[in-house]
Amino acid sequence: MLVSIILAAGEGTRMKSSVPKVLHKVCGKEIIKYIIDKSKKANIEKNIVVLGHGRSQIEKEISDYDVKIVEQPIGKDIPYGTGFAVKQAVKYVEKNDKVLIINGDVPLIRSESIEDFIKFHEKGRYAVSILTAKFDDPTGYGRIVRDSDGDVTAIVEHKDASEEQKQINEINSGIYCFEGDKLIETLDKLNTNNSQNEFYITDAVKILNSEGFSIGGYEIEDSLEISGVNNRVQLAEVNQAMKERINKFHMLNGVTLINPDSIYIEESVVIGKDTIIYPGTFLEKETKIGDNCTVGPNTRIINSIIDDETTVESSKVIDSKIGSKCSIGPFAYLRPGSKIGNQAKIGDFVEVKNSSIGNNTKASHLAYIGDAEVGSNVNIGCGVVFVNYDGKTKHKTIVKDGAFIGSNANLVAPVIVKQGAFVACGSTITDDVDEDDLAIARARQVNKKGRGKNRF
Ligand code: UD1
Ligand code: CA
Repeated sequence: MLVSIILAAGEGTRMKSSVPKVLHKVCGKEIIKYIIDKSKKANIEKNIVVLGHGRSQIEKEISDYDVKIVEQPIGKDIPYGTGFAVKQAVKYVEKNDKVLIINGDVPLIRSESIEDFIKFHEKGRYAVSILTAKFDDPTGYGRIVRDSDGDVTAIVEHKDASEEQKQINEINSGIYCFEGDKLIETLDKLNTNNSQNEFYITDAVKILNSEGFSIGGYEIEDSLEISGVNNRVQLAEVNQAMKERINKFHMLNGVTLINPDSIYIEESVVIGKDTIIYPGTFLEKETKIGDNCTVGPNTRIINSIIDDETTVESSKVIDSKIGSKCSIGPFAYLRPGSKIGNQAKIGDFVEVKNSSIGNNTKASHLAYIGDAEVGSNVNIGCGVVFVNYDGKTKHKTIVKDGAFIGSNANLVAPVIVKQGAFVACGSTITDDVDEDDLAIARARQVNKKGRGKNRF
């Protein structure tokens, strides 16, 4: 069986964070989730995650994942290190398993690379294979030591390396494929005789080599994939690389991104073809955008669904659903629970919250629509306020199909404006308005002769 051991028990000290390292996000998704997803996508049947520092937080975050969680005990007199972490998981490994060990902090790894690596390992019949890469600046990484025939003989940690070994620019990615029996036998032979007093999983290579087993070293094509996140600078670099990868994916899928550098799209987002995204746009969480939409510039859409041919310009949309052929913005704010029908218009400086708005309804400028059910073909004039809050409780407003709400009206909830009714501008409506009626609720105008001229 193909088994993975994902190492995520480390403290992540260099992050200087109260959030466990593997819960930091790359393009909106926790680092550890990338590793689990990629491992599963590479057809690894059993995934074991080793947790220690921040265990309960991580466990909670990945509770939906079908993985085996193993605890690495953490404490002052308890051993530490990647070798010790693997020891905790090995009781779930069978002798004839192939075991992929992978650090929990390499979110850019692709499932195709994992598959190619496992194939390389199987073809070469190695006891263990190491995924390696060449770095211009290998500082901090374990170095791959090869003999004169080019065969791998050991991995030396940066902190334990001689000056000569430090010159080696082929590094250990922290991804290995072991034959199950070799892993089980070798773990007992690890020791902590090194500069960090830790059990290093990397020492297994030296041990197996000295016992005459052959070791595979597989250099990955794109070294970016195995970049580890150890501090916030690397977190930003990995985010940038992921962002470019995601943007490229959408462009190759038929989405136009104008100045892609300024566009941020999270991994979970879906975008239909011939949609155009303008600069300064952020698309987050489970956002789905249809075909032929125009989004941006300067727009943030979080966890929302937008149907085909809709335009959203310079606006913010959260936890909402917008139908097709709508025009949203510029400067609209759709707060959670907004459901906009088809061909509707939510124009400049209109805020909508927890409200449904029917087809062909227009709120073109300067309005607040909160806790409302607005039908289709309704016109909401400039400056209309749905007065939903009495200081204590929120109340609901219902505006039925075809109603017209004149400019600067206040609809004081709870209130119903029925089908085809007309609310005169400037009205403060506190009572229901019947079907097809006209409601005027404002003082009658008085003109005073000459007082305009003699006003002072
Ligand atoms: C490790 C490798 C190094 C390699 C580098 C690649 C060792 C000894 N060194 O170094 O050769 O070049 O990764 O990124 O393995 N972890 C545990 N339990 C522990 C310690 C660590 O689960 O007791 C986990 C961490 O959460 C992390 C992973 O193991 O996900 C790697 O640990 P880290 O401290 O980042 O190792 P490096 O020093 O980067
Ligand atoms: Ca690391």
